[in-house]
Amino acid sequence: MSDHSSSAATPAGTATSVLEHPLVDGPVGPGCRKTDPIVIADGVTRQFGGLTAVDVEHVEIPRGQITALIGPNGAGKTTLFNLLTGFDKPNTGTWQFDGKSLAGVSAYKVSRSGMVRTFQLTKSLGRLTVLQNMLLGAQKQKGENLFRALFRALWKGEEADITTKAEELLARFKLDEKSEDYAASLSGGQRKLLEMARALMTNPRLVMLDEPMAGVNPALTQSLLGHIKDLKSEGMSVLFVEHDMHMVRHISDWVIVMAEGKIVAEGPPEKVMEDPAVIDAYLGAHHDTDLGDIDGPNPVEEAEKAAAARHADEHDDHEQKHGKDEA
Ligand SMILES: Nc1ncnc2c1ncn2[C@@H]1O[C@H](COP(=O)(O)OP(=O)(O)OP(=O)(O)O)[C@@H](O)[C@H]1O
Ligand SMILES: [Mg+2]
Repeated sequence: MSDHSSSAATPAGTATSVLEHPLVDGPVGPGCRKTDPIVIADGVTRQFGGLTAVDVEHVEIPRGQITALIGPNGAGKTTLFNLLTGFDKPNTGTWQFDGKSLAGVSAYKVSRSGMVRTFQLTKSLGRLTVLQNMLLGAQKQKGENLFRALFRALWKGEEADITTKAEELLARFKLDEKSEDYAASLSGGQRKLLEMARALMTNPRLVMLDEPMAGVNPALTQSLLGHIKDLKSEGMSVLFVEHDMHMVRHISDWVIVMAEGKIVAEGPPEKVMEDPAVIDAYLGAHHDTDLGDIDGPNPVEEAEKAAAARHADEHDDHEQKHGKDEA
């Protein structure tokens, strides 16, 4: 396959600690080659005036895994997402998705080719209903407005299929009862779910989520985590940006760390947090970041407890109601 000689050049028997990992072809480290990458990017840079927001020499995203992209505020994570998905143009660089070059390809073609993303600030359109937002996710024509798209789909008899699919996804994300409500009426967490559901309208192979848990209340955190894990069990690859290290530890198979535009570390979650480059990156930026300190409250556990408690309540209600009926 690809030439791995450059990164695998550490001589055997040196004191360098070379961690091996089944997802990696060669030694583990920033920019390491993957055994089965779905995205490979080279020399991607993006400058804003004098600021270099992204300066990625080489990065590979493993296929069929959940990869977390972490790093302090301003590290360039969102900018990298924007570049890879065609929402912004780099100063330099090339990248491929599933072996196909996507540099210079428009956002709409990128999503049609199987790589979709959600936004750090949700982009659901408040004045459209939840269902209309979903249908927009299936929109195929560049620059076409929703109503023209729907009208055309209607004439072609496609609308029924698309609507069925949208309804199935809404049910899966427990938004089916909200289907006719305006997206503006949803909670922050529900909007995140809507965005994720909408992303799935195009049958993606790679789903890129920019801070999917941010602003989501604990009751929905558990269900979001579950949905992310489901994407993987259905064979999709996931790349997500997240600041909460508990979430990262809990669901990711692999972690890539950015700081000041560069990839500074990579590894499995339990190892990467110990990497001095990661500690430096975070301490340099904000000293109070919890790098997964297990003494602190763990939102994943809290959410699990809350879900268990809800379940128990529902069970009690059920018992009370039906116990009475039977008595
Ligand atoms: N359109 C833009 N114009 C000018 N500067 C920008 C623009 N977009 C991003 N930047 C700058 O580029 C750097 C990287 O920003 P980016 O949003 O990619 O960081 P991030 O890692 O996603 O941060 P956060 O964790 O806070 O979301 C920051 O210094 C930011 O201010
Ligand atoms: Mg960001």
